[in-house]
Parts: sequence; C-alpha cells; structure tokens
Amino acid sequence: MYRFKNIHRPLAQFSQSLRNFALESVEKLEVDKPHIPVMKDEVLSYLKPTGLILDGTFGAGGHSRAILESSPTCKILALDRDPIGIQYAEELSKEFPGRVIPLQGKFSDLPVLFQQHNIKRNSLDGVLFDFGCSSMQFDTADRGFSISKNGPLDMRMTPTPGEPTAADVLASVTEEDLYKILKYYGEEKHARKIARGIIEARYLFKRLTTTEELADLVQSCYAEDVYLKDKLQRPSHVATKTFQALRIFVNNELNEINYGMIMAAHYLKIAGRLVTITFHSLEDTIVKRHISGNVVANTANPLPLKYMSSTLQIDDEVVQEAMDSNWKMLHKHVILPEFQEVEDNPRSRSAKMRAAVKIQ
Ligand SMILES: C[S@@+](CC[C@H](N)C(=O)[O-])C[C@H]1O[C@@H](n2cnc3c(N)ncnc32)[C@H](O)[C@@H]1O
Repeated sequence: MYRFKNIHRPLAQFSQSLRNFALESVEKLEVDKPHIPVMKDEVLSYLKPTGLILDGTFGAGGHSRAILESSPTCKILALDRDPIGIQYAEELSKEFPGRVIPLQGKFSDLPVLFQQHNIKRNSLDGVLFDFGCSSMQFDTADRGFSISKNGPLDMRMTPTPGEPTAADVLASVTEEDLYKILKYYGEEKHARKIARGIIEARYLFKRLTTTEELADLVQSCYAEDVYLKDKLQRPSHVATKTFQALRIFVNNELNEINYGMIMAAHYLKIAGRLVTITFHSLEDTIVKRHISGNVVANTANPLPLKYMSSTLQIDDEVVQEAMDSNWKMLHKHVILPEFQEVEDNPRSRSAKMRAAVKIQ
C-alpha cells in the first residue's frame, strides 16, 4: 500500500493566474500547429479503451480525441500541468459533452484532484502517459524550450509566478550541481566544460536570459568543428542535451514520471490497462523498472537487477519485494513507431511505447 506524502501545493492558489496565462495564449494556439499524437493506432490497440480513462498528458488532446471516437461510452479525465493543455481540454469537452473532465495539475497532484472528483482507488479502466513536452511548448518561442527560436529562458511547463525558470536556475546553481544536472539529465559528455562555461559567464554577462544566449554559450564550449547528428542523421545543435537537462530539472520531470507510475498502479482497476510513450532512455528506464517490479521504496531502482552483486546476501523477502510487480507486460519487446510515421512526423523518431495490464 502506498502512502502519499503531502506533496501538493494548494492548487486553487495558482489557478487564476494560470487561467489568465492560457487565455492570453489562445491567439498563439490558433497560430501554432498543435501537437500530432504519436503512435495513435498502437495506443488504441493496447489501451482497448472502455469506461473511465486517465489521459495523464493531455497536450492538444490528439490521443483523447481518438479514444473518444473509438469508444462511444468512455469518459476521459484530461490531466495536464500546462494551462494551454487545459484550454484544449475545455474545447474538447464542448465537442464531447459530459465525456471530458479537464484537470489542471501534475501527476503528483492526482490524489487531491481525484479526491475533489470522488475518484477512488482501483476505479480507472485505462491510463495513458505520453511523457515529455508538446509541440506547442517546443514551438512557442516565449515558452523558452526552443534552441532554434529565440525566447526567454523559461522552460516551465506550468508557468506559475514565483516558480524558478531555467534562467533562475542558471543564475543561482553551483558549478558542481550544474555539472550533475547536465551529466545525469542530459547525458552530456562535455558536462564539466559546459558547467564551467556557464558559471564563468556569470562574471561576463549580467545574467543568461534568452535561449539564444544559452545555445551560443554551449556552442562556444565545444571545439569549432563538432557537428552532431540525431537518430535520423540530421544535424543536431550541440546544446540539445543541455536544453533537455535543464528542462527535466526545472519541471522535476523524472520524479513526476515516478509518481505517475505509482498513481497508475494505485488508481487502475485490476485488469485495467496502462500505456506509456517515452522519448529518451531516462524516461523509459523509470517506466521499465516499474513494470518489471524493480522498485525500491516507491522509487524506480537506479540499478538494473542484473547488475546487483552476486555476492550480496539478500533475504528472500527482499528479493520477492523487489521482483513483485503490479504489472504484466502486454508485449515482448518495446514498441517503436513505423517507418512511415517517423517520415511523416519526425518528432516520433525516439518514441518508445510500453503497455501493461494491472494484475494486483
Ligand atoms: C507529449 S505531450 C502530450 C501530447 C498529447 N498526447 C496529444 O496527443 O496532444 C506531453 C504533455 O504532458 C504534459 N505533462 C508533462 N509532464 C506532466 C506532469 N508531470 N503532469 C501533468 N502533465 C504533464 C505536458 O505539459 C504536455 O502537454
């Protein structure tokens, strides 16, 4: 039985300013291309939607719309921490009256949000998590996620006044902590050099405030002739990993994924289905460890079980607990997008889908 810590802030406190932010951004919503849902057919075939479904990462609602259209009776709990996502959820709820309940908050806010809607343990039929950022977040310069579109160095998925932005982090973090953020969250080989460069820049600039300034600074830490390529062999900016690392840190993304997996196990019915889509190995490892039961003290074990020392004496109960999973995987190998999908939507290129059924 999981205990939920008192991790949530009073949600109502922020909701008005976030609502204003969303309303001010409606104009942009119409201009920017909304998010294209990734692996939509695969999601439907593994989720087999019926009853009450949590779309934990609503975004522009592409998956939710497909679910609603595929099953005329099911209802969606549409969660997103970003007010823009909630704006989309409110639009969808008008199109499908009585079938979409917009919920603004994070995975870790779910116990409070569900209590408000009288949703109890073991009551959901399906949970979908399509982790990471939406195209609206990546492509809107003002949100500060983009390397190619200059904007304020923000990167918050929930732009709550007073919560630290990426610029705030860079202005106050120690060099050692910055090194760790870049190394662990960005898997950046040049973490040491970049951390040094950013700290030195504090004495030259007043403060790093734009995405362009950060991208240029990271570029200056690399040797001139370095050209990186992504998985499709397309040129990739040398600051990609630095941006990823900061975004994960600013939004506490990995802890949130861990919470999300705990929430899914808590609120799904037995035989309820979980589908996850991840976009990099840090996200996928957390999902994989939860599904395989490699969870210690409610947290995905940082070590794969196969690397645990063979000489270590562990009693049966501990081994049993570490191997005891709430889940049964619904496929043998991780599911990847079809070639054609990657051609049509390059953002799907690093997607990995996993699906499991809750067995206890
Ligand atoms: C990849 S997009 C989802 C796109 C969506 N499936 C669609 O079809 O449009 C991820 C969304 O999840 C939201 N998100 C990320 N982490 C979250 C968290 N911890 N709690 C709630 N929402 C989160 C982001 O704000 C973003 O809108």
